[in-house]
Amino acid sequence: MTLPSINPTTTEAWKKLNKHFAVIQNEPLAKLFEANPSRFSDLSVQWNDFLVDYSKNRIDTTTKNLLIELAKEVELPKAIKTYFEGEEINQTEGRAVMHTALRAPVSKKVLIGGKEVGDEITQVKKQVQSFCEKVISGELKGYTDKAFTTIVNIGIGGSDLGPVMVTEALEYYRNHLALHFISNVDGDHVHQTLQKLDPETTLFVVVSKSFGTQETLSNAITARKWFVDKASQKDVNKHFVAVSSNVDKAVNFGIAEDNIFPLWDWVGGRFSLWSAVGMSIALSVGYDQFEELLSGAHEMDEHFKTADFDQNIPVLLGLLTIWYNNFYKTETEAIIPYSQYLHRLPAYLQQAIMESNGKSTDRNGKSVTYQTGNIVWGEPGTNAQHAFFQLIHQGTKLIPTEFIGFKKSLFGDEEHQNKLMANFFAQTEALMNGKDLKQVKTELEAKDISAKEIKKLAPFKVFKGDKPTTTILIDQLTPKSLGSLIAMYEQRIFVQGIIWNIFSYDQWGVELGKQLADTILSEIQGSKGTDHDESTQNLLRIYKS
Ligand code: F6P
Repeated sequence: MTLPSINPTTTEAWKKLNKHFAVIQNEPLAKLFEANPSRFSDLSVQWNDFLVDYSKNRIDTTTKNLLIELAKEVELPKAIKTYFEGEEINQTEGRAVMHTALRAPVSKKVLIGGKEVGDEITQVKKQVQSFCEKVISGELKGYTDKAFTTIVNIGIGGSDLGPVMVTEALEYYRNHLALHFISNVDGDHVHQTLQKLDPETTLFVVVSKSFGTQETLSNAITARKWFVDKASQKDVNKHFVAVSSNVDKAVNFGIAEDNIFPLWDWVGGRFSLWSAVGMSIALSVGYDQFEELLSGAHEMDEHFKTADFDQNIPVLLGLLTIWYNNFYKTETEAIIPYSQYLHRLPAYLQQAIMESNGKSTDRNGKSVTYQTGNIVWGEPGTNAQHAFFQLIHQGTKLIPTEFIGFKKSLFGDEEHQNKLMANFFAQTEALMNGKDLKQVKTELEAKDISAKEIKKLAPFKVFKGDKPTTTILIDQLTPKSLGSLIAMYEQRIFVQGIIWNIFSYDQWGVELGKQLADTILSEIQGSKGTDHDESTQNLLRIYKS
């Protein structure tokens, strides 16, 4: 079974949405609230410990119903079935997309391309668990018989961003092991990190699905050289392990086969933190907590698979993106977690969302004639408020913004938590309501400012309002709730890809730059130059001089 391939703009629902958009596009949010006394309950979902309130968006229940009609017309239900049945939905690479299998309970049968793979998954999980337990307990030792104190994850893209984001998010739950991440091929990154480390107690985890990525291999070679200079070649086995689907390449690099943790081609790089790629997560919070992360994700998968679309969080949020991206023609969305622990979430989501849906060829091989790939960005609140919120409030662009917050903090400091959350709620209210000229004038008059001054100042203090926001309020940041949150975004990516009629699971767009970098590197190193444009030619000449 392949994915349906329906151009969304040819559907009846799309036509109806266009007409509906013409009517609703300028409706003030306040008016929409007035018109429907049950708007909050109509446009919010309570699921497990998540409350998703999307009532402050520029939609009404008709919009929601038409968007759901669109999802059905492009056969999203069939696509979800095909995806979870392990069919090759990554058609351009001939692979299934089954990271969801990694978080399914052991008792669940997992079929990929008709083959049962549950046992293989369990076996690798056990391998990861036993390894982590030995490192954490100190049973496994380095070349001078000392327990490991430091873990260095070497990887890039999906082999870095997921582990970094999650280990930062779960810092509260971390054990004694110190963690470092080396990703950039910038030599200063690797050398800056290495100079702080003790080779006797450092364990390197080289993570590369392909084991062919220039950045990761260069960094691993540099780390190995640093290590061998202090220890010896024969000790490499004790201090370097790999996570890869290319076991042969990892062995060729010099890593012992027993120290290689496999993953499969049906796990995409940017969806791989649930596999052995999550080794640094399991090492830093312990394997049981890693399992909690997986179980949270699995619960979200089940919700996505089974909930009616009008209660289905990834479906509804995916549809909202379509609404803004394709009807309001917005270009970007902001994601603002009100938790410092989630400071890497926007960066992680940039790869997940933009590498997946930044495509312009549809599933029929034709150029799309409509916008795809939403741009996402963000920083934690309240810091973001003091940085770019000015533009969201008073700029000329419409930026749908997502607020993620937690009812309980981890250290339990109520005073801070209340201040944080007061900001969280205040921002969505302010963005929606804005402040009109009349209100501004009244406020200024109360301050005893002259009429002339008020006239001059007032226009600058007006907030138009009607800036759409979605609030995701979760009980507490735990491994489990984090797992659900990440899976929510993953499944939303799928929904959007299906509606846009694109392939979300390949990433051909990153290849061209890689190829050219190889050519240019050999030229920098002395090979005869090829033809370049005038700008590149001059830049290379100046760099080499
Ligand atoms: O940037 C392209 C990409 O292929 C990502 O999709 C992937 O996460 C990253 O490179 C790293 O790849 P690998 O794990 O094979 O080193």
